[in-house]
Amino acid sequence: MTLAYQTKLARRVWNQPTDSMRDFSHIAGFGRWATEEAWASLGKRHRDIFNRFCGQFPNLTHSSRTKLLEWGPGGGAIAVAFSDLLAEYVGVDVSGQSIEAAERALQGSAMKKRFILLRSAPKKVDLPSSYFDLFISAAVFQHFPSRAYAQQVLSVANRTMVEGGLGFVQIRFDNGRRSFRQKPLHMYKRSFVTQTSFRMEDFWEVVRNAGFEPLMVTDIIPRVNYATFLFRKPVLRSRLPHGSEESLV
Ligand SMILES: C[S@@+](CC[C@H](N)C(=O)[O-])C[C@H]1O[C@@H](n2cnc3c(N)ncnc32)[C@H](O)[C@@H]1O
Repeated sequence: MTLAYQTKLARRVWNQPTDSMRDFSHIAGFGRWATEEAWASLGKRHRDIFNRFCGQFPNLTHSSRTKLLEWGPGGGAIAVAFSDLLAEYVGVDVSGQSIEAAERALQGSAMKKRFILLRSAPKKVDLPSSYFDLFISAAVFQHFPSRAYAQQVLSVANRTMVEGGLGFVQIRFDNGRRSFRQKPLHMYKRSFVTQTSFRMEDFWEVVRNAGFEPLMVTDIIPRVNYATFLFRKPVLRSRLPHGSEESLV
């Protein structure tokens, strides 16, 4: 099954105009996100990880001129939580209702923003090369139809990011627990919540294959098999200042 077809599968699921899909999509005001506080906590959690991360690797800290690419913005909680850092934000999602909700959430924010409704394979997305400083995708990779799909999304991220740019991706890890094993494609409609997972060490390979340097894995949540991976696009050695400390891994 082609990745273009897999996007179509995902679109069919995520565009269902039901309250439960709005809840799954992290749209403010629905289900678990009925209160402003609950919804805002979605973004705050990832901003906290980012702040800790920058504290640990101070030479990677970003300025308020950051350009962020987010894959799967849902209701926009992460975009809002990062907005004070951003000059520009681009969100790519398969769902029109998620994009509308994220646009609403970001109303009033001064940064340049754009949303892309994905209709084909991830590599067909219309994004500039070597442009973004930061790539984030949280609670999305688990909903990809296949591992090959995840690999292609990370390759797109690598193409579109500047050298030294930071990536952070939350996945569901596979440690043998039945509910968190990879599901076959034909089950997507029923199992999209826990469709795709990776063994931790295998996800590092996916990150490397996409051209990134792994930095660290953090925020492992055993109850739901979540782990957050941080990585960056390498800086070409020839461009590093003499004696620089850039080699972190
Ligand atoms: C659980 S929500 C996560 C939203 C947000 N990242 C957050 O943490 O609040 C999943 C989002 O991913 C989107 N999504 C699902 N499959 C996708 C795909 N193949 N490409 C882009 N977005 C996708 C859904 O439409 C939904 O908006």
